[in-house]
Amino acid sequence: MSRIAYVNGSYCDLIRAYTHVEDRGYQFADGVYEVFAVIDKHIIDYDGHIERLYRSLGELKMKSPINKKSYIFHIRNIIKKNYLHNGTIYLQITRGVASRDFKFPKNSKESLVIIAKNLPLDYFSQQFDRGINVKLVKDLRWKRVDIKTLNLLPPVLAKQLAYENNCEEAWLVDDEGYITEGSSSNAWILCKRQLITRPISNSILNGITRKSLIKALDKINIKLVEKKFNIHDIKKADEAFITSATQLVTPVIKIDNFKIGSGQIGPMSRKFRNAYMEAVQLS
Ligand code: PDD
Repeated sequence: MSRIAYVNGSYCDLIRAYTHVEDRGYQFADGVYEVFAVIDKHIIDYDGHIERLYRSLGELKMKSPINKKSYIFHIRNIIKKNYLHNGTIYLQITRGVASRDFKFPKNSKESLVIIAKNLPLDYFSQQFDRGINVKLVKDLRWKRVDIKTLNLLPPVLAKQLAYENNCEEAWLVDDEGYITEGSSSNAWILCKRQLITRPISNSILNGITRKSLIKALDKINIKLVEKKFNIHDIKKADEAFITSATQLVTPVIKIDNFKIGSGQIGPMSRKFRNAYMEAVQLS
C-alpha cells in the first residue's frame, strides 16, 4: 500500500515527496516539528501539540505557512489517505528554501510536510507490557531544548548508544549529574509515593504527554514533586517510566545496571498509564 504525504499544499505519494536541497531544514536544521499519536483513528492531545508548535515557531521567529484551523484538516486527510488506525503523524515546518546563508532569508516561505506511520494495532499496549531498559548518557544538547527543533543530532547519538547497549532509551545527564529527560521522552521516577519529574525549564521539552499525565494525576492518590533527580535517587526508586507521544506512559525496568524496584513493571505505572489514557483529549 502506498503512503501519502502532504507537501506544501498538495498530497503525493511518499516516494515522490521531495524537498529542495537548499531547504534550510536540510542545511541548518532550521525548523520545528511535532509528533502526534493516533489511536483508533483519533489524534491524541491535538490542541496541546498545536499550541506547542506555535510556540516553537514563535521562538524561531518563523510564521505558520497555513492558518491554525487548517492543520487538523490536513492531518485528518493524511490519516484517511494512509488508512491509519494506530500510528503516528509527523509534522515538520522549516524556514523554507533559500541560497545558503546563515542569516534569515528575506523572501523564503516556510515549508510544511505531514507524513504518517502505520503501527500494529497492539503497538502501544505491547510497548507498555514489555517495559524498557534505559542507559544514562551525557546531555550534549544546546541550551534551548524547550523548542522542538529539528536540531536532533545529540539525541540521535544518545539513542544509538542506548541501542548498542541493549537499551531502548537514553536518559540524558546534565553537567551536575541530574537527569534532564529522555532522548525523545520525559523521565519520571516514583520514590516512596512521591512521583518525581524535572520541572519545566529551557533544559527539557515541555512534553504534552507529561502535561496530560499531570492533569490525570488528580484521580490518583500520589504526590507530584517537580524537582531534579540524579543517580542516587534512581537507586532508591520503586518504579520509573517515560512519557512521550510515541510511547505514551512506558515503564522503565532497568537503568544502566540498576534494576528498578523488582525489575518488573510496577503497579503504579499501570495506574498512571490507565489514568492518562482516560484523560487524554481525542480529536
Ligand atoms: N519526542 N522530550 C524530548 C526530548 C522529546 O523529543 C519528546 C518527544 C518528549 C515528549 O514530548 P511529548 O509528550 O510531547 O511527545 C520529551 C517525539 C515523540 C519525537 O521526537 O519523536
